[in-house]
Amino acid sequence: MDSLLIKGGTPLKGEVEISGAKNSVLPIMAATLLTSEPCVIRRIPDLSDVIFMTQILESLGATVERLGEGELRVQAKKIKSVGDYELVRKMRGSICIMGPLLGRLRKAKVSLPGGCVIGARPIDLHLKGMKGLGASISIKEGYVNARAPKLAGNEIFLGGRSGPTVLGTANVMMAAALAEGVTIIHSAACEPEVVDLADFLSSMGAKIHGAGSPTITITGVKELHGAEHDVIPDRIETATFIIAAAATNGDVTIKGARLDHLQAVVDKLEETGVILERNGPEIRVRRKRKLKPIDVTTQPYAGFPTDVQAQMSVLMTQTPGISIITERIFESRFMHVSELARLGADISIEGPSAIIKGGAPLSGAPVMASDLRASAALVIAGLVAEGTTQVNRIYHLDRGYEKIDDKLRGLGAKIERVKGE
Ligand code: EPZ
Repeated sequence: MDSLLIKGGTPLKGEVEISGAKNSVLPIMAATLLTSEPCVIRRIPDLSDVIFMTQILESLGATVERLGEGELRVQAKKIKSVGDYELVRKMRGSICIMGPLLGRLRKAKVSLPGGCVIGARPIDLHLKGMKGLGASISIKEGYVNARAPKLAGNEIFLGGRSGPTVLGTANVMMAAALAEGVTIIHSAACEPEVVDLADFLSSMGAKIHGAGSPTITITGVKELHGAEHDVIPDRIETATFIIAAAATNGDVTIKGARLDHLQAVVDKLEETGVILERNGPEIRVRRKRKLKPIDVTTQPYAGFPTDVQAQMSVLMTQTPGISIITERIFESRFMHVSELARLGADISIEGPSAIIKGGAPLSGAPVMASDLRASAALVIAGLVAEGTTQVNRIYHLDRGYEKIDDKLRGLGAKIERVKGE
């Protein structure tokens, strides 16, 4: 398994280009199953999760052709309704093939996605949505079997104990696009990635209103046609690079980002003392000499995103005083805390909150990545720490950050990828 060797202490300087959004491209790739015509998707990031989704689409019978850098042509002419067990089980995001399969074929057999280190990741709301459209659901041998001889529009409340569900909203939107009649999703997720998917579906001929708000109305149509789409920039990658620039006291220009997708993060960053200078499509990131401690709680969009929680905690270790970060979306998303402690961070967990006593310098050590965003936090900590930090198991990182070591090296970081066995 590969690892990253980072020599910390160098302020990041220079320019970095943001890639297409992982959490947008996965449901959009799944949505190509809704038509027998070819679709062309651009700004696709080079990620292992995209490779997995490509393999899943091909295992269903779709053809996936690489047209060039970040550009795929997908055609699901004739497809099966059964998702490859091993492939689907490997990646949580693949649950979003269920809605398109149900919409296109009126049946779907998808392996239960299982949980991951950040939580149980149930799919009860996905299944509630499919049932709401008339599907009968059975769970056998690790598979979810959904059948809907008649897929009919309905009013569906998708709110769960932690608020809306992003991929649950995506699944219902995609199935409803080909259902008979009108579907209204209440307590829909409002993330920009849901809006990006709705835009793609609309370009395929779907009739969708209200995406980005808690109430989405979908009027089913008989069939959808092929379309082309440019994926939105990755707001979580953007936040990660802004925080890395600020944590290393650097001066970085970020290109191709959408700051309007990060208002809650921008608000907290500016509150602590990060300076974000907007120059048209570019953002220059610097910081005040002394940062101020803050109190952050993760919420559904447009609140502070859970996917930026770990990275923010590293910035707070560099901030004199006591900061509090409370995680309200996932039940165990503090895996990075014990690893940060190896670097000298003083963080204690009180229930859903991390209490961060910031201001002490970090010093390099070997640490273990556990999930995608925790890995990003460890990389940022390594960039800050004095001495050398080795981040192991960086396959977690490669799932969601395109060429992150190359991009950081381009900003002056002393970072190299060490090939594992
Ligand atoms: C998406 O996951 C993202 N992944 C996650 O990003 C992101 O953290 C999450 O949305 C934020 O809500 C992709 O888009 C591929 P949810 P998703 O359904 O849709 C509970 C990353 O690092 N819930 O919105 O799977 C769930 O347990 C990843 O890029 C139910 O209870 O998340 C959680 O507590 C991590 N029942 C909350 O809702 C359900 O049926 C939000 O989950 C579904 C979810």
